[in-house]
This record gives sequence, structure tokens and C-alpha cells, in this order.
Amino acid sequence: MPTSGSHTSPRIVHEIAELKAAVRAARAAGRQIGVVPTMGALHEGHLSLVDAARQDCDFIVATIFVNPTQFGPGEDFSKYPRTLARDVELLSPRGVDLVFAPEASAIYGPEHVTKVILDGPALSLEGDARPTHFAGVATIVLKLFNLVQPDRAYFGRKDFQQAMVVQRMVADLDVPVEVIVCPTVREPDGLAMSSRNVYLSPEERRRALSLSQSLSLAKQLLARGELNVATIQQRMREVLAAADAEIDYVAICSSTTLAPLTHIDGPAVALIAARIGKTRLIDNELLNEGTPDGPGKGPAGPRKG
Ligand code: PAF
Repeated sequence: MPTSGSHTSPRIVHEIAELKAAVRAARAAGRQIGVVPTMGALHEGHLSLVDAARQDCDFIVATIFVNPTQFGPGEDFSKYPRTLARDVELLSPRGVDLVFAPEASAIYGPEHVTKVILDGPALSLEGDARPTHFAGVATIVLKLFNLVQPDRAYFGRKDFQQAMVVQRMVADLDVPVEVIVCPTVREPDGLAMSSRNVYLSPEERRRALSLSQSLSLAKQLLARGELNVATIQQRMREVLAAADAEIDYVAICSSTTLAPLTHIDGPAVALIAARIGKTRLIDNELLNEGTPDGPGKGPAGPRKG
């Protein structure tokens, strides 16, 4: 929810030295630092992360950086929406203290060669479809963590696998930050908010509802006692096919490890990637949320902290 209009505009910083000085001063003043990493083109999903950060922290940094290294060849890096002035307007009433919006040259110097190498949950699904994507994400997220040195970092469950990859990296590399995963924010008709929704024509926007409808169907089938993954996936595919969605994957996996399931007998997540026209969309829903060791472990859970 938007906070009262009493907040002042955030300070906008493009240079690393300025960012570091500001967070050093905040830390010296005893403030808890929260970071919300974004690529801009903000929507209510991002703003809900800021609201969550505001609950736990008293110095909020939002980063806005369209990270070139997480886009593969032929992906939408050059056309990805860049709307800094509007983003800052949206952030102002939500109580962000600092917006870090660096140039790519400030982040990746001419001699930059180092990347985070990932395994496990980074290899399937998005990792299959976009083989260089998560190395780019993990590398920029680790760099942002090193620059901001936040107490907590906020990610959306809409990017379920990304959140899991970041949590794994933080645990494996002993990065001293608490990763908090917040629920997906949806439009009233169910479409998951995404910066890429602006690419959809009105007709595609209607067809894009097939993703959330297919996920709702999975939940309904499970609630009616259907535990067989192949059966549920088949019904999900039918909903997507009826909307002429070009399916990249429809998967039902463990929500704690992302291992594919054949039978739902514990915490699970249904995930979809599909192209509507030229726009590739992803969405997911937790299944079996009530299972004892499900929520709270991994990005499946409600926000932790
Ligand atoms: O989710 C995103 O917007 C990006 O992948 C992130 C985490 C900001 C890294 O560039």
C-alpha cells in the first residue's frame, strides 16, 4: 500500500563512490539498510517490495539497472523499457531514501571478466531456456550486495527460480544479507505484474491471462485430489494452447529444491514460461502451501524475516 505523502523524493545516485558514501553514513547512523534490486519500468510488484523493505529497514536503496549480462543474444535488452523519471516518481511516496541508477560502464569496467558459476536450481527451466541468464543475474546481484552491503534484500516470488538461485548463492557464499521473498502482485484479472506486460497488445493481454488461468486450474485440480503431475500439466497445457500461447515449459517441481515431481506429495510449485506473440512471460503458483515443511524454506515461503 502506498504510504502517506510525507516522504521526500529519493536521492538519485549514478556513481558508485556516492552510493558507498551514502550507505556508509546511513550505517554509521545506526540505520538498517534494505535493498530492492530492479531493472526499472517499475510497477506495483516492485513497489510492494519497497513497502516490505520499509517495514523492516530504515534506509531503503532501490537499484535501477538494466543489466546487459542477463540478456541472451536476440533477447529484449535494447527494447527493455527505460523509464527512470517515472520510476523515481513512483518510488517517492513509498519512502525510498536512495535510487542507485548506474551506467553500465560504472558496473562493468573494460577489464571485467568475473562471473558467478551456478549449479543445481539454476540449470533447469529458465536456465535451460536462457543458458547465460542466471550467471548474469547472480553476478549483478552479488555486485549490488557488495556495493550496498544491505542487511536485507527483497525479491519477488514472480521470479521464483531467480529468488531460489539468489538464496542458494547467498547461503553457499556466506553473503551476509537476509533474502526476503515477497508474494507476486497480480492485476485484478489475475495477470502477474511484469515490466514486459507493456509489450502486449490488447488482444495479447487477453491471451496472456491463460498463464494465471492455467496455474489456477492446477490449484483447483490439486484441491480436488488430483496428485498426478502429468495429468495436471496436460490440463494446464490445454488452457495455454487454447489461447495460442507458445509454451516454453509447464513444470511442477518441489518448491524447496526445484526438482521435477511426478506426484505431488509435498510442497510444490507450478511454473510456466510461454510466449504470447513475441513476448515471453513467466508465472508460477505455490501448490500444497499447507504442507508442514513447505513455506518458509526457499522462495516458496511467505516473506521471512
Ligand atoms: O528481477 C530483476 O529485475 C533482475 O533480474 C535483477 C534481480 C534486478 C537483477 O538484474
